[in-house]
Amino acid sequence: MEKDSRIYVAGHTGMVGSALVRKLKQEGFKNLIFRTSSELDLTEQQAVKNFFEEERPDYVFLAAAKVGGIMANNTYRGQFLYENLMIQNNVIHQSYVYGVKKLLFLASSCIYPKMAPQPIKEEYLLTGKLEPTNEPYAIAKIAGLKMCENYNRQYGRDFISVMPTNLYGPNDNYDPETAHVLPALLGKFHEAKEQNKPSVEVWGTGAPKREFLHVDDLAEACLHLMQTYSGNVSVNIGTGEDISIKDLADLIKKTTSYSGEISWDTTKPDGTPRKLLDVALIHSLGWKHSISLKEGIRTVYGERFL
Ligand SMILES: NC(=O)c1ccc[n+]([C@@H]2O[C@H](COP(=O)([O-])OP(=O)(O)OC[C@H]3O[C@@H](n4cnc5c(N)ncnc54)[C@H](OP(=O)(O)O)[C@@H]3O)[C@@H](O)[C@H]2O)c1
Repeated sequence: MEKDSRIYVAGHTGMVGSALVRKLKQEGFKNLIFRTSSELDLTEQQAVKNFFEEERPDYVFLAAAKVGGIMANNTYRGQFLYENLMIQNNVIHQSYVYGVKKLLFLASSCIYPKMAPQPIKEEYLLTGKLEPTNEPYAIAKIAGLKMCENYNRQYGRDFISVMPTNLYGPNDNYDPETAHVLPALLGKFHEAKEQNKPSVEVWGTGAPKREFLHVDDLAEACLHLMQTYSGNVSVNIGTGEDISIKDLADLIKKTTSYSGEISWDTTKPDGTPRKLLDVALIHSLGWKHSISLKEGIRTVYGERFL
């Protein structure tokens, strides 16, 4: 990628897309192309074709998608399947038609089989049943990464895909109804501190372990792969380190300076005991995360709440 290459970031208003834009700008890329979803609905085939005809991007980061937590995934099952398939079919196919030099597609680690051995290696994709609550989303994402792979095989393209772990950072979703665990806990502990609540209730036993990556690290990894990697393996991007929800809650309690108690609602489900990516491949490709969880949470808390 040259500094004046025409780079289209699809989904630039989202958490991942906005981090990619920050990183690309920071690295001196000047010719960035964006459209909001109201300017360009990526589910509309003809509109996407017209956009590629007009803008002729050299490189594409595909970070536009319909995303959400368990509730949204499970409730809007048809929409998750349809919209994601349409967005990625349109963007990947027109990237092929209009000769895009390279494309990076954002898949997600939640599309690995529900019972995959830990840590999860890239080769475990499609080796077992999916988590039923997000099956439509996972099926769409699997179709997307297979489309990249098979456009490479049939048409000799250079389309790559990545499997990020759980992300957090600026522009995350803090809606208490739909937020992921880390932003949800930050919001809860901050509110409890502000309102002098004696305790904060957290779902489950605190035993499950999860991995978290700052979205700025993800953006750096994506840029690194865009510049150095070509291939059909969808590359895991994570820290390779996990933390129990109990330790996460303690860390967030400390970060927010909340002095009350934590109570565990053990009537609520724990979910999968452990979800950790094997990051040997991306380490061998020359990238490792640099933002520790403690530092990342401290910065995000300051940016969002103070
Ligand atoms: N967040 C995570 O923890 C995580 C983890 C692993 C992988 N990922 C992957 O990273 C990608 C981005 O996720 P995110 O967390 O950044 O999501 P996000 O914050 O919800 O952003 C989604 C982006 O997609 C755009 N978009 C949605 N529907 C569109 C449409 N029909 N036409 C045009 N644009 C549309 C949105 O634009 P508007 O705002 O204008 O609607 C927004 O810019 C997804 O593919 C996701 O699977 C995320």
